[in-house]
Amino acid sequence: MIKRLHHVAIAVNNLEEGVSLYERLLGVKPASIEGIPGQGVRVAVFKVGGEAEIELLQPIGPDSPVAKFLASRGQGIHHICFEVDDIDRELEAMAARGFELIDKVGREGLEGRVGFLHPRAAGGVLIELVQCPG
Ligand code: CO
Repeated sequence: MIKRLHHVAIAVNNLEEGVSLYERLLGVKPASIEGIPGQGVRVAVFKVGGEAEIELLQPIGPDSPVAKFLASRGQGIHHICFEVDDIDRELEAMAARGFELIDKVGREGLEGRVGFLHPRAAGGVLIELVQCPG
């Protein structure tokens, strides 16, 4: 079951410039800024009204998926993420409904266990599902 929109992730060339822009836009500081070397990104997370989040993604190296996204499509929305109650069951259900998956089972992500649907399956939009702990 999909519970809510969890975050919108935006690819940026420069995280400091992105953070400065979203500080002005949202009127808050980022809740966290951290590097995730395994995914080849630095991430700044902004909480929006206690509900959804905005994640800014800056690639660390030239070979990461976000770097390739920026090279081909430029800065902008990279993916949207929905919170689900059970990641493995939801990925299986999505596959059964005909959605092409990048992840067949959940894996460890920034804020819980995550899995991605292929953008080919969803009108060009990369969709992430997350099961938050607790
Ligand atoms: Co995400």
